[in-house]
Amino acid sequence: MTDALRRDVSLGLTAEPKWLPPKWFYDGRGSELFEEITRLDEYYPTRAEREILRRHAVDVAATLPAHTLVELGSGSSEKTRLLLDALRDLGTLERYVPVDVSEPALRAAGEALLADYPDLAVDAVVSDFDAHLGIPEEPGPRLVAFLGGTLGNLTPDERATFLADVRAQLRPGDGLLLGADLVKDTGVLVRAYDDAQGVTAEFNRNVLRVVNRELDADFDVERFEHVAVWNDADEWIEMRLRSRGAQTVKVRDLDLVVEFADGEEMRTEISAKFRASGLAMELERAGFSVARWWTDAENRFGLALAIPV
Ligand code: AVJ
Repeated sequence: MTDALRRDVSLGLTAEPKWLPPKWFYDGRGSELFEEITRLDEYYPTRAEREILRRHAVDVAATLPAHTLVELGSGSSEKTRLLLDALRDLGTLERYVPVDVSEPALRAAGEALLADYPDLAVDAVVSDFDAHLGIPEEPGPRLVAFLGGTLGNLTPDERATFLADVRAQLRPGDGLLLGADLVKDTGVLVRAYDDAQGVTAEFNRNVLRVVNRELDADFDVERFEHVAVWNDADEWIEMRLRSRGAQTVKVRDLDLVVEFADGEEMRTEISAKFRASGLAMELERAGFSVARWWTDAENRFGLALAIPV
């Protein structure tokens, strides 16, 4: 992971405009901040997806009676329990494979799951899902879950590659359960990424703390302002960090000196929002068909159950 961080930071901080990829938000503190975000009034996606899973986890299990559930970007695995319960009640589930970049989040989630699901084999994998997917070779139907709308962190090209990679590893009978945040009122979207308490701002700045610690850099974290904007052409939210004043940052482990102009903005995340038709098209291009599609009552969030064609 450190090699990947070094590569991303040296590419992103020497690019014009500068960028850092969102996966580096999630050290122990970053994962905690994200969990805090999921409890904010403004951040609706987690609640909306949970509502769908509460209502339809049984339908997911009936359509895809999985022996193995692989979850990419599993985080706290909190909403996943609704799926685990439905699959356990059906009697098919034997193994849960949570995959996440955050080892502390995986350990905490894994230990809680082992205690609460004594008959379940839990094989946690610390990995960056877009690097090497490695869906385990297990008998019986495998369900790959990619929840929370994390697909939106990828650009359209990256999404096409990612979905094709998942598809290439699936066999007939397997499935992909995909959560996607939907296009909606701009004010609602922006508030979800720029909350009144400033938790998202802290989460955003946390990437600088990670780079400081892991690569011996000297970002003055408080001199970067949180920015969240809706990009209407691309239909995604962009999070950026804006330099307050001109400043020089040293990344000692990379022998890199980086200049920020006053007001310069560095992109740290895109969070794309989807339309049902567009997402179905992306899935079809990757060799899937959408077997089931559910949304919450307010049409804020969608959950697709896709199967290989
Ligand atoms: C975890 C990627 C789904 O994009 O909504 C939350 C991360 N960023 N607030 C999202 C996030 C800012 C989140 N995902």
